[in-house]
Amino acid sequence: MTAIVYVSNTGTAKRYAEALAEKTGWPCFAADKYAGTADDAVFLGWVLGGEIQGLKKLRESGAAIRAVGAVGVLAQEADKVREKNCPAGEPFFFLPGAFDVKKQKGLYKLMCGMLVKAIKAKVKDSPDKEGEKILSIFENGVDLYSEEALQEMADSLNN
Ligand SMILES: Cc1cc2nc3c(=O)[nH]c(=O)nc-3n(C[C@H](O)[C@H](O)[C@H](O)COP(=O)(O)O)c2cc1C
Repeated sequence: MTAIVYVSNTGTAKRYAEALAEKTGWPCFAADKYAGTADDAVFLGWVLGGEIQGLKKLRESGAAIRAVGAVGVLAQEADKVREKNCPAGEPFFFLPGAFDVKKQKGLYKLMCGMLVKAIKAKVKDSPDKEGEKILSIFENGVDLYSEEALQEMADSLNN
């Protein structure tokens, strides 16, 4: 039996994990509640600074990983995220996430403030559309949750 295991900060990776559980019939666990007893795991984690949160820890536990879903708002960096977090050949899916600064707490809230400052300085230095788009995401928030992207992942896991 495959398990779906997720790490989510503000609920988007959890939403994808629960929807995938409904589609596949596989059990779904927050990573800290997963006992590691399934044959393998499909891992869904949110992206922070290009790193899929919780994935390293799951690998270190020795769990067999069947596929990885990275939940983030910068789809243009999907290839970089894959290279940084997954060995070649491991099934990888980028699932468009959601960002709302009002949902951030503690360290993450602090990091968001720093991130916006850094992007603003970069856009001021060398203005470009891409930088402005990223700034708008982190300043104004966005919800890119994609039923289609999830379906693609579910279909590919079924094959
Ligand atoms: C501090 C911080 C850094 C982030 N860095 C990235 C990033 O490098 N790439 C990306 O695609 N999204 C990044 N995001 C956006 C989150 O991955 C996105 O909001 C995701 O949907 C959160 O999932 P969750 O609701 O399950 O926590 C960042 C968010 C925060 C708060």
